[in-house]
Amino acid sequence: MSIASRTKPKVFVARMIPDQGLDLLQQHYDVDVWSDQLPPSREMLLQRVQGVAGILSLLTDRIDGDVMDAAGPSLKVISNMAVGYDNVSVADATRRNLPIGNTPGVLTETSADFTWALLMAAARRVVEADAYVRAGRWQTWEPKLLLGQEITGTTLGIIGFGRIGKEVAKRARGFDMRVLYLASTPRDDPDATRLDAHRVDLDTLLRESDFVSVHTPLTPQTRLLIDAAALSKMKRTAILINTARGPVVDSAALYDALKQGIIAYAALDVTDPEPIPTDSPLLQLPNIVIAPHIASASIATRGKMARMAAQNVIAGVTGERLPHCVNPEVYDHASI
Ligand code: GLV
Repeated sequence: MSIASRTKPKVFVARMIPDQGLDLLQQHYDVDVWSDQLPPSREMLLQRVQGVAGILSLLTDRIDGDVMDAAGPSLKVISNMAVGYDNVSVADATRRNLPIGNTPGVLTETSADFTWALLMAAARRVVEADAYVRAGRWQTWEPKLLLGQEITGTTLGIIGFGRIGKEVAKRARGFDMRVLYLASTPRDDPDATRLDAHRVDLDTLLRESDFVSVHTPLTPQTRLLIDAAALSKMKRTAILINTARGPVVDSAALYDALKQGIIAYAALDVTDPEPIPTDSPLLQLPNIVIAPHIASASIATRGKMARMAAQNVIAGVTGERLPHCVNPEVYDHASI
């Protein structure tokens, strides 16, 4: 090893990420990659970040003040390879003047596509149908076999009208759907007209939608937003789709609603907790489809996310403004 390479800043990468990001980091830094399939334990995380200039984290890694302190004064940046960043304590980072990067934009369409994959799988019972065929139960064409919910011409309610919510709305036009949306901003969204989407309150959205799709970040305001009371307002034929964050939906209330026929079906890409315990009662229900948090998991998109996360690391370690920073207030008093 040359003297130059020994003095490269250290970067901890919390899992094996696509080459588009890893190669970039390895060109510049002394990179320590956590290569196990499972995330590092808390103890390992605290140990491995010591003396690093950058941490590239995943949404499974809790990055709080203790992790930042364990890294020490060398730490310049935390880069989360996800658009969501509820796993990172923004307040702790901002207090330490540490910029946090995320990966918005590159996963928008891919995540919206997968929302539609779940919506359609639930509406038309695709997973049940596949299990039926594999079990050797397909005897003939039956007029009442595996009847599901209509999609075309129905109403879609979108909770959270950000980038992904809007792309989901755009796809609904191809199905001649009426689109309702709930947003936290005080004014109507300027994109709503183009997308033919109508702003409503939560009760109206729940009451009138055939499909309710969740696209909010997880915040204290959205935690358990879809609880028993919310579910009871939905149509008995309604389908709930959650590709945002598990804790936005109350899992116990969802179980009761699906079991008792308060709503017809659910399709989840996210659960609370993750992974869903194998003895979760939700897994006993026939009217739910669950995917292991893969909405952004196309080959191309994960490559772009890794690259963007690496670019955030590089900017942070170099002392430049992160291309995608979730706490830009850290720059308020700085010269960059
Ligand atoms: C995935 O859930 C992400 O936030 O990117």
